Amino acid sequence: MSKILVIGGGGREHAIVKTLKKSKDVTELLCLPGNGGIAKDARCLGGSAKDIPALVEAAKREAVDYCVVAPDDPLALGAVDALTEAGIPCFGPTKAAARIESSKVFSKQLMKKYGIPTAPFEVFDSEAAALAYLDSAAAPIVVKADGLALGKGVTVAATIEEAKAAVHAIMGERIFGESGARILIEQCLEGPEVSVLAFADGERVLPMVSAMDHKRALDDDQGPNTGGMGAVAPNPLFTKELLETCRKTIFEPTMAAMKAEGCPFKGCLYFGLMLTKEGPQVIEYNCRFGDPETQVVLPLFDGDLYAVMRACTEGRLDSVEVKFKDAHACCVVLASDGYPGKYETGYRITLPAESEGRFITVAGARAEGQELATAGGRVLGVTAVAPTLKEAVEAAYQAADEADFNNKYCRRDIGARALRG
Ligand code: AMP
Ligand code: GLY
Repeated sequence: MSKILVIGGGGREHAIVKTLKKSKDVTELLCLPGNGGIAKDARCLGGSAKDIPALVEAAKREAVDYCVVAPDDPLALGAVDALTEAGIPCFGPTKAAARIESSKVFSKQLMKKYGIPTAPFEVFDSEAAALAYLDSAAAPIVVKADGLALGKGVTVAATIEEAKAAVHAIMGERIFGESGARILIEQCLEGPEVSVLAFADGERVLPMVSAMDHKRALDDDQGPNTGGMGAVAPNPLFTKELLETCRKTIFEPTMAAMKAEGCPFKGCLYFGLMLTKEGPQVIEYNCRFGDPETQVVLPLFDGDLYAVMRACTEGRLDSVEVKFKDAHACCVVLASDGYPGKYETGYRITLPAESEGRFITVAGARAEGQELATAGGRVLGVTAVAPTLKEAVEAAYQAADEADFNNKYCRRDIGARALRG
């Protein structure tokens, strides 16, 4: 009998809520802030996920038994530390462990120290030194802000001029604020990308089914980077052999490294990998479930999510089973046209019918009476689960076509790259 609070309010949190709802000991679900669509599955408290004292208050007032902290900001701000101190056990890393995402300098130095494969890099805390370094560097080259930057802190520069402009924008103009006090300049790697989410209990790591994100706004990976326009799982490029390689060279060494640094990682550890000619390398870590990867991984999860989350918190992942269905999932994100730039909102949403094998998540919507209206860039995620990837892609697009709102936009090629193999 457990009352659970999920922190966050997007498509990822909706997927977590829907999956927790099926767990046998979950009797009540709350979400802070939640959104108009999540409200069908959990009581939404509103407020801000970034106001740590307020969310501790809400958790105490509601006498919740457990809290799932899903987004990067509250994790980086120490939500898990504060809730734990208030006597509420949590799913998610401490502030110190969340540095694996909130400081790219921390994560790159960790990888270097413990021999985890990643692109060679240099750290700079002055603009002049970074620009001088670029004078003798070769393009393409990658410039990254140290801190959180809404997923926009990375520039893969085709020329040295472009790299210098990025350095100036981050360090000189501080377009990401204090996240740009330090930067990394690193070698550009080449190869397809794979996302692997893993349950972690401080010692052990249990990888979930792999996924492929689609970050660019337009078909054929053109246009600006977004929060993610769709995903498929499993990622057909991530073979069993690659999984075993990554287990030995990346997943387990990362857990051991975090423990050795005095900040064992508990929660969902996200490995952003690139499959290079020299083998798999880490592009980035996230200290949380990915969005929209979660919307394809959790519909394939075959077990009791709450039981697994508790096992992570309590350091006993060896006592639970983590299984995934032998099937494929495809999620198409329906966005407001113009996203990730300017877009209009406030339009009435018609949801596709939910049916066997369909999993609809609401990201940017608010309730208007009994109806839902668009309220964000990414509005809905429509996921289909089917025996083959081809069927999953077709079924996801069928659901995407049934959904309706003014200025609905989606990529038409989610899954195409995976189908080419
Ligand atoms: P990140 O926020 O670190 O995941 O970076 C965002 C995206 O930039 C990644 O998903 C990659 O597509 C790209 N990227 C980051 N680092 C590199 C690198 N060293 N070489 C090539 N591409 C990169
Ligand atoms: N899909 C990438 C992320 O969640 O950051």
